[in-house]
Formats: sequence, structure tokens, C-alpha cells
Amino acid sequence: MEIKIHSMREKNYANKHVLLRLDINAPIDQKTKRIVNQSRLEKSVPTLNYLLDQGARVAIIAHQGDTLDYQNLIPLEEHAEILSELTGHEISYIDDVCGPSACKAFEEVEAGKAVILGNLRYLTEEVSSFEAAVPLTAKEMTETWLVRQLAPIADAYVNDAFSAAHRSAPSMVAFQELLPTAAGDLLFQEHEALSKVLHHAQKPSSFILGGAKISDAFGMIEQVLSSGTADSILTCGVTGVIFVMAQGYSPGKKYEEWLASRKLLDFVPQAKTYLEKYGDRILVPVDLAYPQDGERKEIKVSDLPLDDGNFIDIGQETIALYREEILKAKTIFLNGPPGVYEQEGFEVGSRSIYEAVYESEGYSVLGGGDSVTAAGKFISLDKVSYVCTAGGAMVRFMTGKKLPLITAMENANK
Ligand code: 3PG
Repeated sequence: MEIKIHSMREKNYANKHVLLRLDINAPIDQKTKRIVNQSRLEKSVPTLNYLLDQGARVAIIAHQGDTLDYQNLIPLEEHAEILSELTGHEISYIDDVCGPSACKAFEEVEAGKAVILGNLRYLTEEVSSFEAAVPLTAKEMTETWLVRQLAPIADAYVNDAFSAAHRSAPSMVAFQELLPTAAGDLLFQEHEALSKVLHHAQKPSSFILGGAKISDAFGMIEQVLSSGTADSILTCGVTGVIFVMAQGYSPGKKYEEWLASRKLLDFVPQAKTYLEKYGDRILVPVDLAYPQDGERKEIKVSDLPLDDGNFIDIGQETIALYREEILKAKTIFLNGPPGVYEQEGFEVGSRSIYEAVYESEGYSVLGGGDSVTAAGKFISLDKVSYVCTAGGAMVRFMTGKKLPLITAMENANK
């Protein structure tokens, strides 16, 4: 499906103050607080270079982390260092989002240079829990502090943050109300690749849904199955265990307590409904792996519960079943790693699933920061047809609903 949005390539920004919204939210090492995967930064380079080569004066607004992963909520200083290196342009950082220092830095940024302003999620009005609690229209958001401070300085607004397209936050949807607006290259590329899976998928089409953010998976299962977008769903990660429970098995006390502490048990009844409705199209793990005395052990689902079991990977039989399904598929969509691949011995599921995708001749789209990091560890990503920078936005896109960013960009075009 085509979108009617202006491209920045239609315009010249020489000497103009351009407010550029990027999504450079990166996976962070919990101990060192350093960036562990640069892929979103790398993919932002063509847009940045287009603007800077022309002599635009750029202020980059971006977020890192959120209320839900507050341990990642850090300044964007390292992002500036990496982007300077990748673009060959001087990109500085100021630890102020839109206060007097940030505004001064934007006003004074030289032609062909950029400044990254402070982490947007330092502002309450930019965090996702605020968006959920206080839903504002794009017009109402023009009254937020961020927009009131930065819009008067900017001559134009460019958005290349497709991976945050599901966020109806001021930085994503409000500047379009006030400033000449255009999209960067990545926004178009991501939209096109995902549209191919959603609207023009070659059949059969398999969706592999893993990871720990299970609300992502549950947000799309009903829609992709009922619309026929997915012919099968291969559940793994925490989603896989929830479906195991929906089949009537208890994983055991420890794991159930962990699910309860994260309020994830509420997904079990929903999973039951999906199994009743779409049973044979939803594949559920038949065995799971867990650590014991520092070693990897596996258990058949039919032998559950296991009271101190911490299930962090799929087992060998599940891997074989899923592999077969992946090799049959003509379209493959992956979101969320199949297991805790960072832990030695528990990368087996992720490695095997990504290797099957590597061998497949089908059109494959992989997305979500964690999945990209995981897959990149085990296979060359050149063999994946499209590596999407989006996670949550990609999942929301697959539900067929229009994303807030796309609506705002199309409205700006009118
Ligand atoms: C992401 O990582 O999916 C995007 O950067 C959006 O982040 P969010 O889900 O915290 O809004």
C-alpha cells in the first residue's frame, strides 16, 4: 500500500534549521551502559547525510529507553559519538531536551552540523505510559513544552523514526501541525518491506513470535490469523510458554510466580481462545530447555510441571518441528528471539531458528532490536530479505491499523 507523504529528497534544506526525529533507541549493556547494537544508528545515516551534505543546521530529537525499560533510559552522548563517526559530520550532544541550553544549541548549530538534544523520555509528555494515560490529539500536543520550545526555532521538520511510528507522542505527531514536513529514506523503506508481508505475501507465510515483550505477540495474533496474513504462527520465548499453559500444562511454581510478578498470567485465557479458534495454525513448543547446575536440560511439555524450572529456550524437538515449517514457508516474519540467547547453552533455539531462516529461499523480514542483535550473532543478515529497525511499530503495522506517525505525515501532506 502506497503512502502519500513528502520525501525530504524533494526539498533543499541548505542553511535551514531542521528538526529531525530519529529512532536511535539502542540495546544497552546493563553493566557498562554502552550501546551493544548500532543498527538503528547505521540506518539513520543516509537521511542525516542528505541533510548535512546540503548544509542544513540540524537538531536531532530522539529517545532512549522508556518507563518499561527504565534501565536503558540514558543520555544520548554515545549516540552522538557513533553518528559523528558514521556520517563524517560533527554531531554534538547537549544533555537538555528543550530548555534554554537546548534551544540555544539548536539556534547556534552551524550549517552542515548537528546537535542531538537530550533524551526525549526525560520528559513526562514523551513516555509511553503518559501516552496511554493522557491521550491527546496531535493538535493538543502542539501545546506541550517540547513543541512550544522547539517549533519556533525550526524551519522544517523531518521524521525518519518509523520504528517509533506506533507512538502518538509530541515528537512524533505534533510538529507536523506547525512546520513544513517530510520523511527520511528509512521511513519509506520500512513501510514498503512490511507492506510486502502484510499485503502481498507469497504463501505459505509463517510468523515466528518469541521474545519477552509478549504484549507485542498478543497484539497481532488474532489479526494476522483472521485476515489470513499468517498461515502459521510458531510460538517461542515467553509467548511459547504461555501457549503451553493454554494447552492445560503448568510449567511449575517458580515459572508461574515469575509470570505472575510480571502480570503475564493474564495472557493465558487469551491464548486459550486463540487455540480454540485457530488451533492447528498455532504451533506450540513440545519441549523446553532450562538451566540446572550450570547445564542445559530439556523437558517434554507432557512431563511438566517442573517446580524450579526456569524455561529460557525451546527444546530440540520443537526446533526440528519449527525448522521444517520455516523451510516450507515462502514468507517469514520474525519478532523476538526464541530464547535467552545471551546465556551460554541457551542460544541453541535462537541459533537453529535463525539458521533455518538463513537457509530458506522465502522472503524474510526480521525486526525488533533484540531479534536483530540475536540473529546477527548467529547468521549473516545479508541473507534476510529485510532487517527492519522496528519492533513495536512493526507489530502494530501487522495488525493492519494505521500508525499514528503515518496519519500525521499524511495529514501534513494535505
Ligand atoms: C522501539 O524500540 O520499539 C522504539 O524505539 C519505540 O520504543 P518504545 O516501544 O519504548 O516506544
